[in-house]
Order: sequence, then C-alpha cells, then structure tokens
Amino acid sequence: MTNNFVQPFEKFANWFDKAQSNSLIVEPTAMCLTTIDQENCPSSRMVLLKSFDQRGFCFYTNLTSRKGDELKINPNVALCFYWGVLGFQVRIEGKVEAVSEKEADDYFSSRRRGSQIGAWASKQSSEMKEWQEFEDRIAHYTKEFEGKEVTRPPFWSGFRVVPKRIEFWEEGEFRIHKREVFERKFDEQNWIVRKIYP
Ligand SMILES: Cc1cc2nc3c(=O)[nH]c(=O)nc-3n(C[C@H](O)[C@H](O)[C@H](O)COP(=O)(O)O)c2cc1C
Repeated sequence: MTNNFVQPFEKFANWFDKAQSNSLIVEPTAMCLTTIDQENCPSSRMVLLKSFDQRGFCFYTNLTSRKGDELKINPNVALCFYWGVLGFQVRIEGKVEAVSEKEADDYFSSRRRGSQIGAWASKQSSEMKEWQEFEDRIAHYTKEFEGKEVTRPPFWSGFRVVPKRIEFWEEGEFRIHKREVFERKFDEQNWIVRKIYP
C-alpha cells in the first residue's frame, strides 16, 4: 500500500508530543545514534533531537568527534527512541546530510552561554591529559568572548537524518506488541507501510 509521504512524520509528531507532555519522561528528545566506522563496526551514543520536519531529524555535535569522523566516511545511521512510560519505541534508519549554516547558527545562538563556551573548549572525543587542561580551555574561551556574543565554532554544527525506514513499536501485554514499518527509497517521497510480527 502506498501512502502520502507525510504519514510517518505525522505519526512521529503525535508520539513525540505524548512523550514531551509526559512529566515522567525526563529526556523525551534523547535518542540513540549509531554510526559506522571505517572497518564497518558500529558505535552508539545518545544525542538530543533538536528539530524535525518532513526533511528529517536534526542533532548537533562537534564535527571532529568520533561520530563526526565516522559520518564523514559513512553517512548511514540509525536512531532509536525509547519512551518506556508510554511503551513506545521508534527506530529510524537513513543517511545524514549537513544542516545549513543558518540552521546551525540559529540553534547555536539559542544555547546557553556556558554550553556555547563548552563547545569551543571541548575537543570532543580527543584524549585529554588531565581535567585541568579542559578547565584551562574553558577559562581561555570565557575570557576571549568576554562582553561579546559567542559565535559558533567552525567545527561545531548539525546533521539531519533523512529517513528511509521508520518503525513504530507499541508495547502490548504478553509481548503482543504492534509494529508498523514505513519504508521508501531515498529519492522517493511515497512511503510503503506494512505491519510486521513482534
Ligand atoms: C542524554 C544525552 C544526550 C546527549 N546529547 C548530545 C548531543 O546532542 N550532542 C552531542 O554531541 N553529544 C551528546 N551527548 C554526549 C554523547 O552521548 C557522546 O558522549 C559525545 O557526543 C561523544 O560521542 P563520540 O565520541 O561518539 O563522538 C549526550 C549524552 C547523553 C547521555
């Protein structure tokens, strides 16, 4: 069955609203991001969903981090949300593309000053000799930007995960879960939707 392309995003928006309005869910925007390295080995870590629309799902990070390096080599990723209180899991698979400079600037300028300074000071995923080294870098950038707006570091930006598969999993009693999968080709806007066994 072929559906209008907005369907999985509408369903995601509906579940995401439920997660965001549930006070028991501490970090509704937290999602597990899996990337793939040069040897085809996967690695996962949590990141925060900062925006989404029909183009995809955006997160922000240091471009020279481990994930940043892996994404340069291989843009294929997987995301996974789990909102346990609601019994919902959402799995998203696709490719990343860079967000625009304007999107990155707009989001960076909305962050708190401490996080902006932290972005300059952290050589994310690089080895640090001792904690003091990082403290010194934070002090250095705090001074450098004193009385000034903190601009976005050139090595810090965002990625949009453009999905080709989105699976909605809804917990049921006795492991009788519901699974609904939306799939499409990257260059197509129409989604195929089907149900699969739990
Ligand atoms: C709940 C949660 C949210 C996080 N959000 C982000 C994020 O949005 N961006 C980011 O770069 N790191 C975020 N982190 C830290 C990452 O999990 C990770 O430690 C860091 O990005 C370095 O990963 P890498 O070495 O694989 O590049 C978050 C961690 C947690 C636990």
